[in-house]
Amino acid sequence: MQTITLNNNVEMPILGFGTFLIQDKDECERSVINAIQTGYRLIDTAKAYGNEDAVGMGIKNSGAKREDIFITTKINFGDFEKEDCEKALKDSFEKLRVDYIDMVLLHWPFGNTYSAYRVLESFYEKGLIKAIGVSNYMPSQLIDLIKFNKVVPAINQIEANLLCQQKELREINKRYNVATQAYAPLGQGKAEYLYELPALIEIAEKYNKTTRQIALKYLVQNQISVIPKSVHIERIKENFDIFDFELDKNEMNIIESLDKGKNLIGCSQDTALAEFAMTWV
Ligand SMILES: NC(=O)c1ccc[n+]([C@@H]2O[C@H](COP(=O)([O-])OP(=O)(O)OC[C@H]3O[C@@H](n4cnc5c(N)ncnc54)[C@H](OP(=O)(O)O)[C@@H]3O)[C@@H](O)[C@H]2O)c1
Repeated sequence: MQTITLNNNVEMPILGFGTFLIQDKDECERSVINAIQTGYRLIDTAKAYGNEDAVGMGIKNSGAKREDIFITTKINFGDFEKEDCEKALKDSFEKLRVDYIDMVLLHWPFGNTYSAYRVLESFYEKGLIKAIGVSNYMPSQLIDLIKFNKVVPAINQIEANLLCQQKELREINKRYNVATQAYAPLGQGKAEYLYELPALIEIAEKYNKTTRQIALKYLVQNQISVIPKSVHIERIKENFDIFDFELDKNEMNIIESLDKGKNLIGCSQDTALAEFAMTWV
């Protein structure tokens, strides 16, 4: 598996498995097992998804060694006060059935982010968390966090897909030595017309791949980590099978031109994110 070297030299698989909205316990456990047995080595979950327990069971029952799986979870902003954050982490360790977590993110840039980030820093310094990062951070929030804390976040997990390529935010992440990880790399099923575009079909046919595989490959070739989610075994395999070809420069340019510069997932636009997040309190 291709990896990204994070700013603390931890190696993170460039392709991972997302678990948002897999709420049925059995389906979640089965999907995680299918993903790991397909070859995925990064599993992304969050307290807010309500499935850390099933993810933990899936990892345990997959047959993989703990040290071969990179686990990411996230702290919800309702838990950003110090004691709440420590408790949320304790729960995550228990539910995931692990004695260290590879990556913990602040899920949202709201509430007492400083307090939560400093709890993450203390767990990181004790070696209980191997890397810490953020999600949904806009440039000013990211720079602020970096300026007034010790540990530079290893990643910023943001919406990124062909219609929302996040060039500016990716550039800021890069400038501050923060890796970009794309959530909703397939557009969360909200832009299905994309996968019928003749330009994308032509590229897909050349490599005997699907247009979704081309979409994921384009992000990966731009050094963006992707974490597509599916509960279907054939799609889990399809999304993983993107490492045996390379897009050429002309194809990369064609795909780059599909960018609309606008979030598909309402909740990752700056204002909409704040309004949506407040409904989670
Ligand atoms: N940090 C954050 O705030 C945040 C926000 C959103 C997501 N995330 C993380 O990022 C992960 C990925 O994002 P996402 O789940 O929102 O969206 P996504 O991975 O872009 O898309 C998932 C949707 O696409 C479908 N799909 C997957 N592979 C497919 C294929 N090969 N062909 C056709 N349809 C396919 C899935 O359906 P089926 O399952 O029915 O196959 C599902 O409806 C999440 O699962 C989560 O771990 C993080």
